[in-house]
Amino acid sequence: MLRSETPDTWFAIATADLVCLLSDHLHCERKAAENALSLIRRYAYDAEGVSTLGRLAHEETSHVVQVSELLARLGHRPRADRPNHYARGLLALVRTREPERKLDALLVAALIEARSHQRLSALAAGFAERGESHLSSFYRALATAEDRHAEVFRTLAGRALPALEVGARLCELAEQEAHILAALPPGPRIH
Ligand SMILES: [Fe+2]
Ligand SMILES: [Fe+2]
Repeated sequence: MLRSETPDTWFAIATADLVCLLSDHLHCERKAAENALSLIRRYAYDAEGVSTLGRLAHEETSHVVQVSELLARLGHRPRADRPNHYARGLLALVRTREPERKLDALLVAALIEARSHQRLSALAAGFAERGESHLSSFYRALATAEDRHAEVFRTLAGRALPALEVGARLCELAEQEAHILAALPPGPRIH
């Protein structure tokens, strides 16, 4: 789904300030839960979608708790949320008229989940290499969940519009996603 890889240099930059990275991660998980609930608010008429998104919101909320518990175990408090230019850039691509709005919102969510999977996998691999097996398994488990979420959103998008249109729009948005990410300076963040 993604148009770019995470460079090998990313791990060292992202983990240079672990508290900052975990704080960003906590807020990313919270926003993922909020996004699922906001899609339920907008498309409450779709019972099957509500069921899928409700379960996803529940799972993202459990990720918030897991990151919060890890921070507490390490003896830190999360820092305040900071503007997420990556997500903002992507949300600006969502068209305003239905059904395009629904399609774009679901595809953008799928791309964010896919990128989160890639980044959390890079963290799992990097921590494994450093012999920090606890952090490695923590990120590995979360990465697996985000990969599944990317497919959940792609499947929901496939129900919104005909397959041909969905595929073409996913290609466009995936190109944009890679550009948006490449334009941002790297730092101790997930994206
Ligand atoms: Fe999550
Ligand atoms: Fe997720």
